[in-house]
Amino acid sequence: RRILLVNGPNLNLLGTREPELYGEETLADVEALAARVAADFGLEVRSVQSNHEGVLIDAIHDARADCAGIVINPGAFTHTSVALRDAISAVELPTAEVHLTNVHAREEFRHHSYISAVAACVIVGAGVQGYEFAVRRIAALIAR
Ligand code: DQA
Repeated sequence: RRILLVNGPNLNLLGTREPELYGEETLADVEALAARVAADFGLEVRSVQSNHEGVLIDAIHDARADCAGIVINPGAFTHTSVALRDAISAVELPTAEVHLTNVHAREEFRHHSYISAVAACVIVGAGVQGYEFAVRRIAALIAR
């Protein structure tokens, strides 16, 4: 059984992008953490990062074939993308939405998420540890 880990635009720059906001850990660190936590539950992780909305949507569609749940940090598409939300709805896989920062404590335009209404849980402001919580939650939801 497998979890799809999706990271959206600009998250390829983790570690160097505004580190005072997003931390020093890299995307590779995040992906390794997710894989390590998932392994404790006998789960694999497939990781995808893209700066392109359509690539993320395709990856979510493909997950229907061989993944049991999704962990996603949609980056700025969180606040803009009805298409990403519709993709998550369409595949009907339990989905955890993660944001490194507490988006509610930031600019007004980050307060609304198109994704949250179709997510099984939302984790904000826990930094990289948020991905760990998300993987644990999805593992619990798909346990059988
Ligand atoms: C983010 C928050 C978004 O508002 C922002 O556009 C990001 C990262 C986070 O992880 O805190 O790219 O999703």
